[in-house]
This record gives sequence, structure tokens and C-alpha cells, in this order.
Amino acid sequence: ARITLRQLLDHAAERGYGVPAFNINNMEQGLAIMEAARACDAPVIIQASRGARSYANDIMLAKMIDALADIYPEIPVCMHQDHGNDEATCLTAIRHGFTSVMMDGSLEADARTPASYEYNVAITERVARMAHWVGASVEGELGVLGSLESGQGEAEDGHGAEGALSHDQLLTDPDQAVDFVARTRVDALAIACGTSHGAYKFTRKPDGEILAMRVIEEIHRKLPNTHLVMHGSSSVPQELQDVINKFGGEMPQTYGVPVEEIERGIRHGVRKVNIDTDCRMAMTGQFRRIAMESPREFDPRKFLKPAMDAMRDLCRDRLERFGAAGNA
Ligand code: G3H
Ligand code: 13P
Ligand code: NA
Ligand code: ZN
Repeated sequence: ARITLRQLLDHAAERGYGVPAFNINNMEQGLAIMEAARACDAPVIIQASRGARSYANDIMLAKMIDALADIYPEIPVCMHQDHGNDEATCLTAIRHGFTSVMMDGSLEADARTPASYEYNVAITERVARMAHWVGASVEGELGVLGSLESGQGEAEDGHGAEGALSHDQLLTDPDQAVDFVARTRVDALAIACGTSHGAYKFTRKPDGEILAMRVIEEIHRKLPNTHLVMHGSSSVPQELQDVINKFGGEMPQTYGVPVEEIERGIRHGVRKVNIDTDCRMAMTGQFRRIAMESPREFDPRKFLKPAMDAMRDLCRDRLERFGAAGNA
């Protein structure tokens, strides 16, 4: 059954668990997530980026969500717009059956210039008001996703160190978070704690300097009733890097967000945990393996089935470790 982000995260807060939000853009990813949720009796968040919507087509995605809800009627599922950039993106998502939207006002046109705080408040408040009229939930974002490693500064659009923002400009300011939540009335708040999107988050296993979990603890102390969201939360497991590289890939060594750090976040108010890269890597490792091990193979299902199974196992592991298992 479809539920809103607010309903799901209120339940998660009551019981002290976190919910992974997995990105999809195709049927196999949708099935992998729902199979994982069914296998461990967990609620789940499925999210689509703007890129996913244009890749799959809004009508295809909308009907796919209907189909998934019909095939897995016992699984509470929240369908969420990931990184909506304006009112139109958010409202058209809701019109296509999404029960929740992210209005990401944390960046304006240019990643080198943080969005003006007042712009972010105004557009997020507007989207929250409209979404709430029709029963959908809203996630806002304060702070800028990007690496805190020296010389590695990279803001959300992937631009490099040149003109990089300082630590203080990237990390969410706890006092500003209090004001933001009060003024926008968001249902969940995405914060910046040093993570970034994609596989190349850290060049070494992160410590407290480059992965600033203390920021989350401080925000949670000031906003104990606000559901917090961690973006860029793929763990980029060594095993997945190894599979890809064993079968012809050339991914340079990299480090993601350790699952223990996410578990620590969940003890301090993190309720939604965004994961895309790990799912992509799980699938791609299997594509590469089949391509190398069975060079005569040309049936796409022979590639997609193992890829789907690998993504299912990854999703199930996160549902279990975040405590969502058993809460459907
Ligand atoms: O926000 C980033 C998500 O991983 C979605 O990525 O824009 O390539 O679909 P995408
Ligand atoms: P990853 O790239 O770490 O999977 O993050 C995904 C994300 O934050 C989507 O919004
Ligand atoms: Na999101
Ligand atoms: Zn994100």
C-alpha cells in the first residue's frame, strides 16, 4: 500500500529505525527493492530523480508504481521525488502518484554560490503548503553536499575544487536548521555532514573530520522531533568495487559512508537514508561478470536477473541493518 513520507517516518521515529530510500529508473530496480522489502517484512521508500523521470517517462513510472503496489500489497511504500528543483517538478510528481517530494532549494543556479537562505525558505515553504493541501509530504534541504577533504572540495553539481566552499559553508548550521523547519513546515530535513553523491566520496576511510556525524547529533539535540535525511549514503563496499574491477572495470579505489556511521545517525534522528550508487554498483558488477564469463550470451534477461538479485540482496542488507525489517 502507498503511504506518505510523514506517515512512514513518524512510525520509524516511534520505533527508532531508519528507512533506506532507494533510487529507481527501471522495472528491475523496482522489483529488486520490493522483493527485498517482502523478504524481510519492511516498509520502503522508492525515489526517482528528475533524470530518472525523463529516462523512464512519467507515465511509465506512474504505472510501474501502481504495478509494484499491486504486486506487493502488504508492503508500505512511499514514492518520493528526489531532488526536485522547483514547484513544477514537485507538483507534476504528485500528479503522477508520488506521495512525497523533495524541494531542494539548497542550490540555486551555481554550485559555487550557496543558494540564498531566503530563497530556500521561500520556495520550500511554498511547495510544502501546496503539497500539504493534497496530502503529500515534503523534504527540504539545508547545507551543501560535498567533500570536506582538503583539495577535494566538490559541490553538488560536480564542479571541482576551484572555488570550492569552506567547511562552514557546506555543513548544515544547527541554529539555521531550527529556523528553517519552523518557517517551511517540512516533514523531513536533509542535512549536509560531508557526504557527496556518487562513488567517489572519500579517498580514505572517513574519520570525524571528513564525515561530520557530530553535526547530526547537534541538529537532533535542537530539533528532536524533526525527521532527518542523509543524502549520499552509499557505503561503496569494497566487495562491489572488487567485482566490478575483477570483470574488466576500472574504478579507482574509493570509500563511502560506513554502515556503522549511518546506524549512529539513526540513533540521532536520521530516518531516511538515500542510496543509489550502491544499487548501481551491485547491478553493474553482475553485468560485467556475465559479459566476461558468458561471452556468447545475448539474452538481456541473463544479465538482468543476476543484477536484480544482487541489488535485492544489497537492499535487504540495508533494510535489516537500519532496523526497518519487521516493520511493514
Ligand atoms: O541525486 C542523485 C541520485 O543518485 C540520482 O542520480 O540524477 O543520475 O538520476 P541521477
Ligand atoms: P549515493 O550516490 O551515495 O547513493 O546517494 C544517493 C542520493 O543521495 C540520492 O539523492
Ligand atoms: Na530526496
Ligand atoms: Zn541526494
